[in-house]
Amino acid sequence: MKKKPIIIAHRGASGYRPEHTLAAYELAINFGADYIEPDLVSTQDGVLIARHENEISATTDVANHPEFAQRRTTKIIDGESKTGWFTEDFTLAEIKTLCAKERIPQLRQQNTIYDNLWEIPTLQEIIDLAKNYSIKLGRNIGIYPETKHPTYFRSINLALEEPLLATLGYQAENTPIFIQSFEVSNLQYLAQKTHLPLVQLINLTDQPFDCTVSGDIRTYTDLVTKSGLEEIAKYAQAIGIHKDILVPRDSNNKLQTPTSVVHNAHTAGLQVHIWTFRNEDSFLPLDFQGNPQGEYELFFSLRIDGVFSDFADTAVIVRDRFTSVDIS
Ligand code: G3P
Ligand code: CA
Repeated sequence: MKKKPIIIAHRGASGYRPEHTLAAYELAINFGADYIEPDLVSTQDGVLIARHENEISATTDVANHPEFAQRRTTKIIDGESKTGWFTEDFTLAEIKTLCAKERIPQLRQQNTIYDNLWEIPTLQEIIDLAKNYSIKLGRNIGIYPETKHPTYFRSINLALEEPLLATLGYQAENTPIFIQSFEVSNLQYLAQKTHLPLVQLINLTDQPFDCTVSGDIRTYTDLVTKSGLEEIAKYAQAIGIHKDILVPRDSNNKLQTPTSVVHNAHTAGLQVHIWTFRNEDSFLPLDFQGNPQGEYELFFSLRIDGVFSDFADTAVIVRDRFTSVDIS
């Protein structure tokens, strides 16, 4: 039997429901996902909630709330100018008056029927959901939280790491957990505070924002050299990496020869989790148009250890079929 890569439901079953809602996580669990993934930002009163960005106009109905119109503003977040409404300017009670909506309605029009139905969940509510389903289904549902903009939130006295560890708390003992970040220094900090496995996220371009702030010139490309991976292994247990780094695409969207990153990461003692798998042709390489299953099979054959997917149902089906075949 082949090793079974884990299936991480990327923001929930976000191919089918507005992302980062309890309904999206619930569907992903029922699809058979091993982990559900909340991206985390902070409210004004220091509660961790699930959103991909702290600017929430793209994924909530905040613009339709006249009582919050005055809070629309412009801020610099991780070096980029953003205009809209920011979670750190709202208490949890205020956030709970908002509803989630589909991020990409032009592509996922069918998901818009769920717009304005569900509130924004807290990390605690997501943990409770996973624990309830673990009991109901008789299997442990994991949580795979990501700290979003950790340097920024620490700079405004709303650091994410302490409430994250406090919320995970004793529940961490029975719940499979990975903690992820695109930054380096907050993972190094967390490594001193917890034994939970940590994941260094690796983007296709640029550098970790905390490196930008500290004057560290290392880019994500530097982080996945052999020596870079050995450095990561000192504080993390896995890399969560853009899949195009493992199998680059050319200018015609065609896949090229796989790189040696998986082998080098495994040699350094790191698991390799890759993102993000989506069924729609607009995300797929030319080689797998109309065939998202083929893309999973390619990456499973490279012996990766986990995939983030918007379509956990497809991921689970292909993973189970792929790993049921014996290898010599
Ligand atoms: O966290 C890794 C994966 O989710 C990709 O990043 O931008 O979707 O949070 P993002
Ligand atoms: Ca994420």
